[in-house]
Amino acid sequence: MHVFTWSPRLGEGEGSAGYSPPAARVALVGHRGARGLWPENTVPGFLGALAAGANVLELDLHLAQDGVPVVCHDPDLPFAGRRISVSSRPAAWWAGIDVGSAVDPRFPERIPIAATVPSLATVLSAVRDSGLDPGWLLELKQSPDPAGSTGPDPGVFAAAVAGDVRKAGLVHRSVAISFDTGLLEAVHRHGLATGLLLEPGTPGGPEEHVARLGHRPTSLGPHYSLVDAEFLRAARREGLLVIPWTVNEPDLMERLLLLGVDGVTTDRPDLAARVFDRVLGDGWDRVAS
Ligand code: G3P
Ligand code: CA
Repeated sequence: MHVFTWSPRLGEGEGSAGYSPPAARVALVGHRGARGLWPENTVPGFLGALAAGANVLELDLHLAQDGVPVVCHDPDLPFAGRRISVSSRPAAWWAGIDVGSAVDPRFPERIPIAATVPSLATVLSAVRDSGLDPGWLLELKQSPDPAGSTGPDPGVFAAAVAGDVRKAGLVHRSVAISFDTGLLEAVHRHGLATGLLLEPGTPGGPEEHVARLGHRPTSLGPHYSLVDAEFLRAARREGLLVIPWTVNEPDLMERLLLLGVDGVTTDRPDLAARVFDRVLGDGWDRVAS
């Protein structure tokens, strides 16, 4: 087994212009696992992403009714013909709900399989039990749900996520990411490395983005349309890793790798692994052989 060598700590102190991290550190990030291949944000999806070549797993988090972080993208999920707020049921209830069998026409190559909504702790231990040790990009979502809730208190949410990561012994392998600066401040106070996500069209450069936070993040996760050579140079001056999302076209993956990004977040880790092999050669590591 190849051990993934990327670590969020690599960003610290690397602030000089022109710094370019060794290719072995480049992260192939499986978005929601391998969203284009397997049901997203599910245990089989995460294991499938690693088998396809990912060395980092991205996942989305909400708090269930009992305060347990659960892994799903939306604040509500379909059940029996209607949508149910994630925060209205405990994690054990969600662990019995199948979200994997439905066909998604946006991803014709995805294989539907029965798979339920896991807790964060379940995902971390299932991957650990598989013998693999990837990096983690853990996205804390703060979205209002249809019932009008604005989401959990940031401090409560951050404490729950950091607690699970710490119990799993994965603080050194994890970056908590979010579009929400309040959540990032909270999770930073709980001792996790942070990464600020940027929507397409977000104005300003890396300096301005960092200035919105009261601490120095480890990474920026811009939409790929925001990334060019100047953005990367400015991020290097700030000592930040740059890991754009969500890149599914091989030509675009190649262009970004040649620009010098620190990782690529993709729904198709299988396609990305081929591009990484071609562009980086031996200079990157899978975690699954
Ligand atoms: O990693 C960033 C990316 O996941 C943000 O978009 O909507 O897929 O969570 P979304
Ligand atoms: Ca996400």
